[in-house]
Amino acid sequence: MNLELCKHKAAEAALDYISLGDVVGVGTGSTANVFIDLLGRIKGRIDGAVASSNETKRRLRELRIPVLELNQTGVLPLYVDGADEATKHRYLIKGGGGALTREKIVATASEIFVCIVDYTKMVDVLGAFPVPIEVMPMAQSSVSRALVGRKGWPQLRTGFTTDNGNVIVDVRNLDLVDPPAEESHLNNIPGAVCNGIFALRPADVLISGNENHADLYR
Ligand code: 5RP
Repeated sequence: MNLELCKHKAAEAALDYISLGDVVGVGTGSTANVFIDLLGRIKGRIDGAVASSNETKRRLRELRIPVLELNQTGVLPLYVDGADEATKHRYLIKGGGGALTREKIVATASEIFVCIVDYTKMVDVLGAFPVPIEVMPMAQSSVSRALVGRKGWPQLRTGFTTDNGNVIVDVRNLDLVDPPAEESHLNNIPGAVCNGIFALRPADVLISGNENHADLYR
C-alpha cells in the first residue's frame, strides 16, 4: 500500500470538519503535514491556525496561513493531528515527533479533536509503540526511576530537545490495558511535564486512511 496516499485519504476526510471562519488547531508530523498542505488550498475559508510545534508554525507560515497564539483565540472549534498508535475507542499514543505537550494542550483546548492516521497505526491495545514522556532535564533520573517503579523500561531519546527545552524519555512495557488510568498515574510524576497517552482527552473522531477510502470511528 502507498502510505502517502493513505495519509492523504485521512487528511482529506478531516477537511469536512472545517467550518467557514474557523481557527483550526494543527498538529505535528508527516500526516499533519499532509493536512497542512490541504489547508493551504482552502485557506480563504479559515481565519487562521494555532500550531502545536515550531515546525508546524513554519509550514503554516510558508503557505501564508495566519498563525495565531492559543492565548489569543480561546477555545478552538477543531484540532487535527496524527498519532503513533490508535485504537477504535479513539485512545492514542502520540509524541513520536516530540511535540506531545503542545499537542495535548491544543487538543484539550479544542471542541473537536479529529485524529488522522494511515491504517498501519490502528492497534487493538496500545503499547507496541513506546510512550513518549516530556521531562524537565533536571528530573530525567528521578522520572526514569518512577517509571521503572511502574514496570516501565525508560530510554532517553538522545540528541533531542523539545520546543519547550525539555528532553523526551520513551517508555516500553507500561501496562496500557486501561489507558486513562495509566495516563493519570504518569501525570502525577513530578518533573514529567506531559505523557503521550491521549486517553483522558481522546480523539472525538478517528479517521484511518487506506488507499481507496477512510474509515471513521466516533
Ligand atoms: C508528534 C506526533 C505525531 O502526531 C505522531 O508522531 C505521528 O506522526 P506521523 O504522522 O509522522 O506518523 O505525535 O509529536
